[in-house]
Amino acid sequence: MDQKVANSIRPVAQLVRGHETADGDGVRLTRVIGGPALPMLDPFLLLDEFRSDDPDDYIGGFPPHPHRGFETVTYLLHGRMRHGDNAGHSGVIEHGGVQWMTAGRGIVHSEMPEQEDGLLAGFQLWVNLPAADKMMAPRYQEFGVAAIPVERREGGVEVRVVAGTTASGTQGPVRELITPVSYFDVTLPAGTAFEEALAAERNVFVFVFEGRVHIQGQSIEAFSLAVLGPGAQVRIEADDDSRLLLVSGRPLGEPVARGGPFVMNTEAEVRQAYNDYRAGRF
Ligand code: FE2
Repeated sequence: MDQKVANSIRPVAQLVRGHETADGDGVRLTRVIGGPALPMLDPFLLLDEFRSDDPDDYIGGFPPHPHRGFETVTYLLHGRMRHGDNAGHSGVIEHGGVQWMTAGRGIVHSEMPEQEDGLLAGFQLWVNLPAADKMMAPRYQEFGVAAIPVERREGGVEVRVVAGTTASGTQGPVRELITPVSYFDVTLPAGTAFEEALAAERNVFVFVFEGRVHIQGQSIEAFSLAVLGPGAQVRIEADDDSRLLLVSGRPLGEPVARGGPFVMNTEAEVRQAYNDYRAGRF
């Protein structure tokens, strides 16, 4: 690797505002990755942010629907979501908890709010699987807030480590990831800074959901995503009390064929997924 990249701080390569859309049974959400501005950031196929205290925006939830070929990561900030699938797996994701679902060869599941009022807020991220693992058996990793370690740093900076390991060795509970990913939820009081080494080979994004930060002179407002450019270090400075997701992943570099809830390598594999689903082979 180029020595300059090895030592350098990653700049902001692209700033993205999500766009308002609806999915499932009329759930209002903001699509940040997977829309026209940023169709994907290998290995990430989609990032949705949902946040509403109006039940009309979320009460319909996501009735049964299939997935094949990737992983869905649901991280809940507020509220409760009930999850169930066609293999009999079910559970409730509570605020501060995560569900890392590897759809593999296919599941049909529902994701429904377990509340009739109050704030529901969180994220769903889709992580692509390599060709060799797209047809693996489905599996789940689910952890409540108590299982997610909080690394406390100088100045009141807190890092909730959902997946991956920080430079100081705090390891998230989600393990044995097929596609190497780190997923940190970082809280920064105004005037503090956060630094972290992230492998230069990885694609990295920052999604600010409270406050305002800057990275290498570029200001990033709440509800904006910054794709970071080449480098090995991340340095984020908080202008206001801020909170953000810092997510990194090793790109797969493989062809991507998308068809709604199926993400494969070729169009023929997507057609096969539709055929298998219709024929009840999930
Ligand atoms: Fe889903």
